[in-house]
Amino acid sequence: MKNAYDRFITMTREIRQLGTVAELLAWDQETYMPKKGIALRAEQLSTMASVAHERLSSDEFGTLLRQLDEDIDDPVRATNIREMRRFYDRAVRVPAELVARIAKTTTLAKEAWVKAREASDFALFAPHLKELFELKRQMADCIGYQGERYDALLDEFEPGMTTAMVADIFASLRKPLADFVQRLADAPNQPDASIVRRHYPRAAQEAFGRRLAEAIGFDFDAGRLDVSTHPFCSGAGPLDVRMTARYYEDYVNASIFGILHETGHGLYEQGQSIEHCGTPTGAYVSLGIHESQSRLWENMVGRSRAFWEKFYPECQAAFPDALTDTSLDAFHGAINCVGPSCIRVEADEVTYNLHIVLRFEIERALLDRRLDVKDVPDAWNEKMRTLLGITPANTAEGCLQDIHWSLGAIGYFPTYALGNLYAAQMFEAATEAVPDLEGAIRRGDTGVLLSWLRENVHAHGMRYRAAELIERVSGRPLSIEPFMNYIERKFAPIYDL
Ligand code: CO
Repeated sequence: MKNAYDRFITMTREIRQLGTVAELLAWDQETYMPKKGIALRAEQLSTMASVAHERLSSDEFGTLLRQLDEDIDDPVRATNIREMRRFYDRAVRVPAELVARIAKTTTLAKEAWVKAREASDFALFAPHLKELFELKRQMADCIGYQGERYDALLDEFEPGMTTAMVADIFASLRKPLADFVQRLADAPNQPDASIVRRHYPRAAQEAFGRRLAEAIGFDFDAGRLDVSTHPFCSGAGPLDVRMTARYYEDYVNASIFGILHETGHGLYEQGQSIEHCGTPTGAYVSLGIHESQSRLWENMVGRSRAFWEKFYPECQAAFPDALTDTSLDAFHGAINCVGPSCIRVEADEVTYNLHIVLRFEIERALLDRRLDVKDVPDAWNEKMRTLLGITPANTAEGCLQDIHWSLGAIGYFPTYALGNLYAAQMFEAATEAVPDLEGAIRRGDTGVLLSWLRENVHAHGMRYRAAELIERVSGRPLSIEPFMNYIERKFAPIYDL
């Protein structure tokens, strides 16, 4: 028995190492790789993926998993076996032929999506989207599910979460959030958004962003911050975390809050157990929990007034031309402007969730065949009107704006909104547990919050599924209440509600 477990752990680590090598190759592709390297890099990544898949779905690994018993008193073993069994099941249930068809279809779909978005012509993308949803239905049927097909797809990104749970949460969020956006729009005080669109020299942004990442606890001896078109965080484990940022001289939010966001992801990675590196006990729970860490640092901490009481003088010193004559309150208002917009990635933290509710409702209906692909643009616009009171000018600003569907990532969107809700619930629990947390943030002592997160969230790895983790952390199941309370408390003084 002991030998079987040791062999299982060795193989598990090898599988994960193949994955991290691929992550570093992908990181390099987005940061330093010369343009002409792209074709070879695509082959390298595809080879890495198939070697890892072979290992994971091998007879040897399957036999080991059958020999090992999950019901043991050791939580580390139980977690590792349970989660690797889940990865294994997902890997072996989908036939290689279907995997290959999905890969081929997404390659073509992504090309078509780029053209369709450029031309703002949904018809160019529609046939690919239709085929992708058909293949994803087949994939869901191979994997199996208890409630509805969408469960099987959601489970890839948010293990254990069900469509019904997401639907309940989102249904309860829809109206109160849309009403709140309206209240802010009608509020007497509207902050001046132009402050963050002044001239902010790039070199100063790089230095200040790095300073903030360090100040909230990122260890630069165990990670890097580089530049890419779309910011991300990846890496090879807690001792080698790779983050990226982007810089616009006429829009400082992109770097400051992009960096705080990715640092939130990075702190979660650096907080994983070194001893259990490469196994589920030393890995993140779900994309939603990962996103909760980035949103907590970006928004609950990074957009709070307390945080800027500490850092605004430094910020003014870093950007004297832009900010010398701007008060802390004006700056704090500018970084917290809320308003309906068509593009998800540009959305503020309040309207953001509504963009996700819309996407979830549409992709769920598509998968169920309650909605036809050709009717997506109309359904999209209709929901934009109901949820945000605006209509996109064209499909490029509407249903063609996101890359996700073209990559076959269906069931991914909910993790963004779940992340916001988990974050608010965790932050509320931290505020109750840590004496005078706000005062500590005001002094720049965010280490107490990081320690709390390390102990209550990071250290567990995948031991608890997201729903269980949030209940352990906060004493109750996930609800929209902490998020609604958080935005009410935060935006009331800014907007004079
Ligand atoms: Co993120």
